[in-house]
Amino acid sequence: MDTVSITRAGRVAIVTFRRADQLNAMNKQMMGEITEAFESLSADAAVGAIVVTGEGKGFMAGADIKEYATQTEAEFDAFQKAGARMYAAIEQNAKPVIAAVNGYALGGGFEIVLACDIVLASEKARFGLPEIKLGLVPGGGGTQRATRKLGRNRANHMLLTGGIYPASDFVACGFVAEVLATDALLPRAQELAEGIAAEPPDAVEGLKRLTALALDPDPTPGFEAERALVTALYRSETGQARVRAFAERSAAKAAEKGRP
Ligand code: COA
Repeated sequence: MDTVSITRAGRVAIVTFRRADQLNAMNKQMMGEITEAFESLSADAAVGAIVVTGEGKGFMAGADIKEYATQTEAEFDAFQKAGARMYAAIEQNAKPVIAAVNGYALGGGFEIVLACDIVLASEKARFGLPEIKLGLVPGGGGTQRATRKLGRNRANHMLLTGGIYPASDFVACGFVAEVLATDALLPRAQELAEGIAAEPPDAVEGLKRLTALALDPDPTPGFEAERALVTALYRSETGQARVRAFAERSAAKAAEKGRP
């Protein structure tokens, strides 16, 4: 892959966008490589969590507008269709995906952030959906995910103004978990990912499916799926071992203190 790299540290995979001289603007080739990277990591049992970041001063400044300018209508349509598969490869990835947003995350770049499970950002991160400035609207699910994840008025504000905002504006609403100094961003994302990747995969992957189910206006399927998962995990070796270990530690402490 030329435009994306995957590095591994234990059970954590780091996906890095590598078109730094173009602020990682996403052309057709890059979209294909991002899809391939996330689809392969989703199926990889050696991976417990994924971090996604960008090289240089951009996370991703959106779709490659210069490529847009040369596309035929059919090519533009095919790019948008391929985009749906790419965003699904991130959002529906079996593994949790942590965005480590290092710089500009605009248009399609912000739509990728919207498809991630947890967002960390550097002080230099900037978010925006500026498509309206090109006479367009987002095509990768940005209107739908921004409304669900940020609330409708905040989404309307971003979409209708096309403005670019610092990551710190997104902490109060809970969208960004932490804003960090530039040098601290990747180490913190890796630390967070390692912690998650160390938990039982069935619980981690199950939780991700359950919070996605919670978007269904009817909570009943989510309640049922949650109960099915907790009963299965309770019967699992890890669940049994951890629950018993807690009770044994508690009993040992009580014995030390002479409590019954
Ligand atoms: N598509 C194609 N190329 C892009 C790009 C994009 N979305 N965003 C940045 N680039 C390229 C620039 O053309 C430039 O390339 P060049 O040196 O070959 O001319 C390079 O990346 C650096 O960008 P530049 O504009 O010089 O940096 P800047 O710091 O002055 O401005 C931005 C940064 C992000 C404000 C500006 O690049 C921008 O507005 N980009 C477009 C964002 C956008 O509309 N995204 C939504 C697309 S649907």
